[in-house]
Amino acid sequence: MTCLFDNYFAIPLTAHTYCKTIEMAFSLDAAYWQERWQQGATGWDIGQVAPPLQQFFDQLPQSSLRILVPGAGSGYEAQYLWDKGFRQLVVLDIAPAAIEAFRQRMPQFPESQIVCGNFFDHRGEYDLIVEHTFFCALHPSLRSAYAEQMFNLLAPGGLLAGLLFDDPMTDQPGPPFGGRRDEYLQLFSPRFQILTLERTEHSIAPRLGRELFVLLKKPNR
Ligand SMILES: C[S@@+](CC[C@H](N)C(=O)[O-])C[C@H]1O[C@@H](n2cnc3c(N)ncnc32)[C@H](O)[C@@H]1O
Repeated sequence: MTCLFDNYFAIPLTAHTYCKTIEMAFSLDAAYWQERWQQGATGWDIGQVAPPLQQFFDQLPQSSLRILVPGAGSGYEAQYLWDKGFRQLVVLDIAPAAIEAFRQRMPQFPESQIVCGNFFDHRGEYDLIVEHTFFCALHPSLRSAYAEQMFNLLAPGGLLAGLLFDDPMTDQPGPPFGGRRDEYLQLFSPRFQILTLERTEHSIAPRLGRELFVLLKKPNR
C-alpha cells in the first residue's frame, strides 16, 4: 500500500506500518522523526535551498544577522547562508539522524551552533528565523504555540521568513498538514506585521502554485 502524503512526502507502507503511521502522526515526536530519517522517508527533501528563499537570502543586507533554522532537516538553507558568510547561524532539529546528516555535510559548521532538540523548548534571540516545511510537519494543534514561540524567539523588529503550503491537503492522516492564506492571516496577524504572504512564482515545479512566501515582522518595541 502506498500512502501519498504528497509527492514530496510519499512513503511506501505496509498495512501494518500504515496503521502505525496514523498513530504516530498524532505524536510527532523525536522518535517519529528519527524513524523517518533512519528509514530514508524524507520525501520533503528537495536537495537544495528552496529557490524563493535563496532569492530572499540574496537580498539580505548584513551578514551579522542572528539566524535560526528550526526543523532544519538536511539544512540546505543553513548551508546556503553559511556559504554566503552568515556566521551567527543556529541549526535546530529534533531528530539526531537529521543533525548527524547535517554534521557530515557541513563538517566546518561550529558544533556550538548545532542544536538537537525540540523547537518549543529552544531559547534564544534572533533577527531572522527561516521556515521551510517545518510548520507543515507539526500537528495543527501546535500552530498557536508555533506562532507564540516564533514571536518569543525573535528580537523586536526581527523577521520570520519562509514558505507555507497554500493547500489544505485535508485527506491526509499525517504530515504535511496543509493550510490556507486566510488561516495564516488569522494565526499570525495578532502578533506580527504581515509584510508578505503571497504565492511565489519561484517554487520548484511540483510545488508551484501551492506555496506562499511569508515574511512576518515582530513589531519594534
Ligand atoms: C518536513 S521536514 C523539513 C526539513 C527541512 N526544513 C526541509 O525543508 O528540507 C521537518 C523537520 O522538522 C523536524 N522536526 C519536527 N518536529 C520538530 C520539533 N518539534 N522541533 C525541532 N525539529 C522538529 C524533523 O525532524 C524534520 O527534520
